Formats: sequence, structure tokens, C-alpha cells
Amino acid sequence: MESAALLHDVDKLAVVSAELNGQAHGEGSAEWLTRQGYPELGPVVAGHPVTRLADEAWFREWIRTASPEALIVSYADKRAGQKLESMSERFASWERRYPPDERAARPRGSWTAETLAAVRARAEVLEQRVCELASVAPGEVRRLAWTSPALTAARTGSR
Ligand SMILES: [Fe+2]
Repeated sequence: MESAALLHDVDKLAVVSAELNGQAHGEGSAEWLTRQGYPELGPVVAGHPVTRLADEAWFREWIRTASPEALIVSYADKRAGQKLESMSERFASWERRYPPDERAARPRGSWTAETLAAVRARAEVLEQRVCELASVAPGEVRRLAWTSPALTAARTGSR
């Protein structure tokens, strides 16, 4: 679970994306993990991108069939920026970073207000599902104690 969470965006690394064949974000991470000998992690990371939530048919099937691990990785992606934040804060951050005049060149660029609303509604369904599985309320979600030292070690290269 932790490995999949930590590696869910690995296809954003230039050295990794150069090895791939142009797969969509998430699918590329899944492909790379499979090539590294971890095929079981692929389904956990493949569906995490927020852009997947724009596809109603995909979402309807995924939310019904995804493993708890896949649901958690996707939900965590919608709660974690540089720090843990609410989904509303995360979506507001995305919308600030991709204002309408910059959207044309981005995957979310073609989203209408209606699609944005549908994406947020599906993210709320995801949040409800994950919080039910974990028996917590969204406001009770916290980082585990090991994450801060691990992030510091990753930033500084120390162990
Ligand atoms: Fe991602």
C-alpha cells in the first residue's frame, strides 16, 4: 500500500516517462511498476488521476470494483498537496494553478463548469466511500507518524 502510494506519480519523472510509450498519467505508473516486477501495484495506481473522474462510465465501474488500496491512493491524491488539506482546498488549488486562460493546453482544459461539478461530486463519492471503509470522518484524516521523517529524509537524501 505504502509503495503504491509513494510511487503513484512515478510516470511524471522524465527518466521514467522516457521509457514509456505515451500512456496516460497513472497508466504509465502502472506500466512502469509492472516492468519493475510489481504488477500487483499497477491497479492500485492506474486510476488515481483526477482527470479520470471526468469519465462517468469509467468512474461508475471503478468505484464499484476498485480495491480499497486503489480507492485510498486516489483519495489521498485528492487530499495531499504539499500538506494534507481538505478536498475543497485541493480542488481550489488545482483551479488556481490552472486558471481558465491556461486550461486550453491542459487535460482539464476542456472541462466545462458542468464537468467540473461532476468531477467534484464524484470525488465526494470517493471520499465518502474511503471514509466509510476506514470508519473515519474526512476531518479526522491525518498523516501517519512515519510520513514526516520519511519526507524529510527524501528531501535531504538522509536516512
Ligand atoms: Fe498523479
